Amino acid sequence: MKKISGLLFAAVVSLAANGAIAQEYVIKFSHVVAPGTPKGKAADLFAKMVNERMKGRVKVEVFPNSQLYNDNKVMEAMRLSDSKTTGIMAAPSLSKFVKFSRTIQAFDIPYLFNDIDDVHKLVDSPIMDKMTKPLERKGLKAISLWDNGMKVFSIRGDKPLKKVPDDFKGRKFRIQSSEVHAAMIKALGGIPQKLPFKEVYQALSQGVVDGQENAWSNVYSKKFYEVQDYITVSNHSYLGYMVVVSAEFWNNLPDDIRKELTAIMAEATAANRRFAAEADSGDRARIEAAGKAKVVELTPEELAQWRKAVAGVEGQFSKQIGTALLADIHKLLGH
Ligand code: LMR
Repeated sequence: MKKISGLLFAAVVSLAANGAIAQEYVIKFSHVVAPGTPKGKAADLFAKMVNERMKGRVKVEVFPNSQLYNDNKVMEAMRLSDSKTTGIMAAPSLSKFVKFSRTIQAFDIPYLFNDIDDVHKLVDSPIMDKMTKPLERKGLKAISLWDNGMKVFSIRGDKPLKKVPDDFKGRKFRIQSSEVHAAMIKALGGIPQKLPFKEVYQALSQGVVDGQENAWSNVYSKKFYEVQDYITVSNHSYLGYMVVVSAEFWNNLPDDIRKELTAIMAEATAANRRFAAEADSGDRARIEAAGKAKVVELTPEELAQWRKAVAGVEGQFSKQIGTALLADIHKLLGH
């Protein structure tokens, strides 16, 4: 008996060594938003497609709502991870990458993009590779870029945010960990306060901050609209995500597996753009129907004032981002 199990063990070891027993790779996809958002849906779809098509070879597990990590922690975990069989994947918002690539701050410049089509022009251009390349030296491999949408401002109090700087004066706004956002809030006349996404609802409901800026799907899914009085359709900048994975894990995957995962990611990305477009109008409509926060539009004159107030922000960051890169982006967008 002992001899048989010894032989069996030897056979298993030899099969594994010859690659006859395939290694199963595991990807833990961590994100901070609700599953029903454009990012949550795309992550779930990516996992579903991989788990069906690559069964026994790759398994993807999704952890939403900051269950596993918040955005700053996940990037540290990714960079420290040296596992070749378990990879951490995440899709933090672009604003959270400044520590790893200063050029990515370009996405935070207010009114750089007129709309989501402008964003796609940049994302689908070769300029994007230049912007993501530096991440690899920091242990992060960028494999896609996902949309959420253009951001709006919300506020608690007896008047909406329309006139700048008067309506921003003395009011605190939660921002992501972005210096560009901080400069933008100051330029509008408000007081910026950095907080992790997980803490935003509580900070708004307890009055630690008065307002915040985000895409419609986050305002809806995290119920910010229930503790805010007004939402201004400012469309002042873009909320999007870089899908990243630990470079050590990714670069060590067998070529065929990496290729298949890349193709599935492209499908998930195409679906993400549809999810984001749906959420943009759908979640706005759901917020309006709830009758809690009132949605207000800016008049063309007010919008011109907002644009004028933040016009200097780009200049404050142009050296860090790269003046040549910004010039290329303006050329590409045609404005
Ligand atoms: C935020 O922190 O407001 C967003 O980045 C959250 C997210 O991932 O959409």
